[in-house]
Amino acid sequence: MTTGQSVGADITALAAERWAGARDARLSEVMRALVRHLHAMAREVRLTESEWKTAMSWLARTGQISDAKRAEFILASDVLGLSMLVVEMNHRRDPGATPPTVLGPFHVAGSPQLEYGANMAEGSSGTPLYITGVIRDLHDQPVGGAVLDVWQADAHGIYEGQLPDGDARLRAKYTSQPGGGYCVRTIAPRGYSIPMDGPVGELISRAGISRHRPAHVHFLITAPGYEPLITHLFEAGAPYLDTDAVYGTKAELVVEFERRPAGPTPDGRTSDEPWLLATYDFVLQPQRWTMV
Ligand code: BEZ
Ligand code: FE
Repeated sequence: MTTGQSVGADITALAAERWAGARDARLSEVMRALVRHLHAMAREVRLTESEWKTAMSWLARTGQISDAKRAEFILASDVLGLSMLVVEMNHRRDPGATPPTVLGPFHVAGSPQLEYGANMAEGSSGTPLYITGVIRDLHDQPVGGAVLDVWQADAHGIYEGQLPDGDARLRAKYTSQPGGGYCVRTIAPRGYSIPMDGPVGELISRAGISRHRPAHVHFLITAPGYEPLITHLFEAGAPYLDTDAVYGTKAELVVEFERRPAGPTPDGRTSDEPWLLATYDFVLQPQRWTMV
């Protein structure tokens, strides 16, 4: 007969074994590992009851603040480095392809389609920034017809999704030309703090660790036959490149924003104020690289 004491002594094995009985094999594997690692963590830090209660309340509040626009659990995953780990593990990458990074919580589907060089920052103030280059494949061949879904924060670090519902703001889709060329006209992004008004922000404040992301522009690039690429471009020299709150920075994604005087711009028009130029070629890899 099993005594209470022996159950207590072997609780980890007992719980892991219980979950091993899950009908679905993958669920069984994931839940057994979760039990083992959670128990190991609790043992390692000798988790107190009061700490356990605090953690349960934090999880409950993280759920309560979440809705269609606010993804607090994803933010939690981001600041733990879990989102970036999952990105790394699930995108086996040819060394020649552009590296992926986190999607983040502020992508909005259905952005307006703009022409080559058209301004996605209409109505937002800031230094004009042209991002231009070629979309190509691993064999240096241009990829025409690729869709670049682009989004960024405004000069105060605020995304459209953090504001009351309104028109599309600082986001657009561009299509690469037959020769692979693309040209995005926007404003220079600024570094910003991740949302601090919820349970994740509370934890970050309490820990006193980095809340900041370096200045960046987001891209989701899709083309038939190629693996979708979710990435950012970061401004070279921007603050927080080494302390990104969500571990999304990669050296290959850091690009110079070169200062240019008023005058001709890459889209064949003219700027009456100084502007910035970022030149970057995105390299897509074939769909077969995707891990399932
Ligand atoms: C972002 O880049 O938009 C972002 C990513 C992760 C957490 C918060 C913001
Ligand atoms: Fe961002």
